[in-house]
Amino acid sequence: MSSAESNLLEGDPRQAPATGTDFSAGVDLLTAVHATDPAAGTIGTDFSAGVDLLAPERVADPYPVFAELRRRRPVFYNEHYRAWFIHRHDDLLAALKDPRFSSDRIRPVFEHKLTDAQRTERAPTYRILGEWMVFRDPPDHTRLRKLVSRAFTPRAISLWRTRIIEVVDSLIDELAPRGRMDVISDFAYPLPAVVIAEMMGVPPEDRDLFKDWSDDLMVLVFGARGVEGRRLRAQNGLLELSEYLGGLVRRFRSAPEENLIHTLIRAQEGDDTLTDDEIVGTCILLLFGGHETTTNLIGNGLHALLQNPDQLERLRAHDGADYLRAATEEILRFDGPSKMQVRMAATDIEMGDQLIRRHDMVYLVQAAANRDPDVFAEPDRFDIERNPTDHVGFGFGLHYCLGAAVARLEGSIALDALARRLPDLRPGPEPPEWHPTLISRGMSSFCVSYTPSEGAAA
Ligand code: HEM
Repeated sequence: MSSAESNLLEGDPRQAPATGTDFSAGVDLLTAVHATDPAAGTIGTDFSAGVDLLAPERVADPYPVFAELRRRRPVFYNEHYRAWFIHRHDDLLAALKDPRFSSDRIRPVFEHKLTDAQRTERAPTYRILGEWMVFRDPPDHTRLRKLVSRAFTPRAISLWRTRIIEVVDSLIDELAPRGRMDVISDFAYPLPAVVIAEMMGVPPEDRDLFKDWSDDLMVLVFGARGVEGRRLRAQNGLLELSEYLGGLVRRFRSAPEENLIHTLIRAQEGDDTLTDDEIVGTCILLLFGGHETTTNLIGNGLHALLQNPDQLERLRAHDGADYLRAATEEILRFDGPSKMQVRMAATDIEMGDQLIRRHDMVYLVQAAANRDPDVFAEPDRFDIERNPTDHVGFGFGLHYCLGAAVARLEGSIALDALARRLPDLRPGPEPPEWHPTLISRGMSSFCVSYTPSEGAAA
């Protein structure tokens, strides 16, 4: 959802600074430094011009540049983005515990960093995003999180297990006889869309409509640059979706059904309940927060397993939920869907030997912290038996991912089914395409081949 924030409100993160300057045509000066200085490190000796984290080789594999930054510039002001990047595991935990690193960053950007014309154009988006707990600090965050948590009890989640297995099996039934697929568009993208629509009680006849709106929104989440009128299209989709969800809320108020929306309607803390607008805003947050990330957990997970065939064999050789759970945690650590979390400094903050100024944007680089050798031995080795309990793939502290249990369930059921049901699974023939996005980590296309087999689940 951080990517939704940066794209919906600001477009390319490089347009984020107060001046609104478009840096997208900026030159990657570091590459130039490297070219003229063969003795320099992997990313060059001169960091002063900033580091372009979206250079193609860094999109495909961001880990070498993060390792170097973590070692040499753990708290780094990156001129390229005019923002701070924090790389060490202990600094991330400290920042995520520290209320001076505020999550309330949409409002200040909307109020102070947009032009009048941008504010008018984006007001409807802001009104919806303003309901999201992920962009709130206590006490607003505490109130919303308590109420919404009622829909994420272990019992509620265990009820979804059967349905997730059914959806996974029916998708694989269709794909098994084909002998090849694009893991993203054929499997990992539709799966969470169907699951979340069912969880919310969207009737089967509206699923295609619902999917079209979420596709519109994903144009922004994936930061598709160069798509004509993308912001307007996404905003229209967002408004239609919220109108549609408002209708569902009214319907389930008068004719209750057992689903997530009705659980949110019933949720109560003392005299406090959620308003219809808050329920609609929360549903859109769950759609945003849970869709792209789960797609990428499955895509990145299968990619890591196919790059490390010994680990895929180990997974196939072991039966059991504990083993699968540990493998999923290692995927979240090794190549998780969230590269960074975003905060805004609420006041001047000293960190390391640096001074972070009030209202500076701060990126907490989970992808760097999750490979910090002070916490994880041989961090660049993918080992599904490692069971890394202290990874920060779901964040940490007050905003720790509310949907973590659902994501773990969906991801592990999906990867287990792919590994077991598709014989001779291998990458290709086309190479994967990684999304050029700063905050999330995932592919737009990932082709795999396998020996065609009968569709029915074993
Ligand atoms: C592998 C998949 C997922 C990953 C990697 C992930 C990651 C994250 C991260 C890093 C945060 C913290 C954001 C911050 O501190 O600013 C977060 C928050 C959140 N996530 Fe997830 N997420 C995933 C799946 C899901 C799913 C499936 C749902 C819902 C069904 C969900 C709902 C949420 C919500 C509601 C929050 C906000 C919590 C709060 O502000 O208190 N996420 N997620």
